[in-house]
Amino acid sequence: MTMTAATNTTTPLKNAVSKKPGPYTVETVLSVKHYTDSLFHFRITRPDAFRFRSGEFIMIGLLKDDGKPLLRAYSIASPFWDEALDFYSIKVDDGPLTSRLQNIQEGDEILLGRKPVGTLVLDALTPGKRLYMISTGTGIAPFAALIRDPDTYEKFEQVILTHTCRHAEELVYGEELVAATKDDELIGDLAREKLIHFTSVTREDGPVKGRVTTMIETGELAERLGIEKLNPETDRVMICGSEGLLKDVKAICEARGFVEGSNAAPADFVVEKAFVSV
Ligand SMILES: Cc1cc2nc3c(=O)[nH]c(=O)nc-3n(C[C@H](O)[C@H](O)[C@H](O)COP(=O)(O)OP(=O)(O)OC[C@H]3O[C@@H](n4cnc5c(N)ncnc54)[C@H](O)[C@@H]3O)c2cc1C
Ligand SMILES: NC(=O)c1ccc[n+]([C@@H]2O[C@H](COP(=O)([O-])OP(=O)(O)OC[C@H]3O[C@@H](n4cnc5c(N)ncnc54)[C@H](OP(=O)(O)O)[C@@H]3O)[C@@H](O)[C@H]2O)c1
Repeated sequence: MTMTAATNTTTPLKNAVSKKPGPYTVETVLSVKHYTDSLFHFRITRPDAFRFRSGEFIMIGLLKDDGKPLLRAYSIASPFWDEALDFYSIKVDDGPLTSRLQNIQEGDEILLGRKPVGTLVLDALTPGKRLYMISTGTGIAPFAALIRDPDTYEKFEQVILTHTCRHAEELVYGEELVAATKDDELIGDLAREKLIHFTSVTREDGPVKGRVTTMIETGELAERLGIEKLNPETDRVMICGSEGLLKDVKAICEARGFVEGSNAAPADFVVEKAFVSV
């Protein structure tokens, strides 16, 4: 698999899809911002009836040349109260959806599923003092919603968002997002008081280099943040990244006595894949 800019264009959806009830609605792209050769952000219209909990994901997509929809799971990267919907996306050069999605522009149309779901929601965690949101790559997307949800700060005294990527340029979206959140009229005061953003890179030198898993295990993360080590008595954890990250952080949590939660049975930590590897 390679990840570079592609030249395909999207199939125009106008008049192609009924706006009557079905598995998806047709929305309009409001803005697009490219961060790197393999990452971009876009914002689309939100139907009045579309309700979700911050942290959930939804199917989005485009019509294929044969007129059939091509949909993929995407975390909604904006909070429940926002008037539009944000997404943060990879560009996979030979990916069926993102080889085309990466070319969307303001005014284009996009398919939006009707049924948001997911486990990275506050409801799936029992109360705690500190919330860790551990992300790699595009796994930061659900946390882009949760760090802008007032309930997150109502439920936790401290919120730690960690983001690890291969290269520093892949951290920029998160850095801009956190800065804007701390500056926000609605949520800024809470975020300035409670939100800590911790970043590291793994494949080039940066202010902090290394995998977050190693830093949790060695105690380096707690030491750098000036807090106690990960502890199920006080801490709750949300994890979003590759399957390898999920497996490793889950093992760290379980070794310390954390219990995995779900919507049906809230507990100490929850996980969600940022993508499925082939
Ligand atoms: C619950 C869930 C939530 C998701 N949320 C997002 C999201 O918010 N943003 C997003 O970009 N993707 C997200 N994905 C992945 C997304 O569904 C697609 O896989 C992605 O858009 C690529 O689609 P594609 O058709 O171009 O390629 P696919 O055929 O779907 O993927 C091809 C290969 O590309 C790689 N890949 C796919 N997605 C990613 C990724 N996000 N990061 C790194 N490598 C990847 C994998 O190796 C994958 O096997 C999510 C997946 C799941 C299961
Ligand atoms: N990001 C890029 O520049 C790039 C470029 C071309 C192709 N790709 C392809 O895109 C796919 C996804 O790449 P990605 O960079 O978005 O995601 P990724 O491979 O999951 O890496 C993202 C970050 O997560 C870290 N990580 C991975 N597994 C981990 C684990 N088990 N525990 C702790 N940390 C872990 C990585 O560290 P490590 O570096 O130590 O693995 C990296 O810092 C891969 O198939 C890759 O080959 C990526």
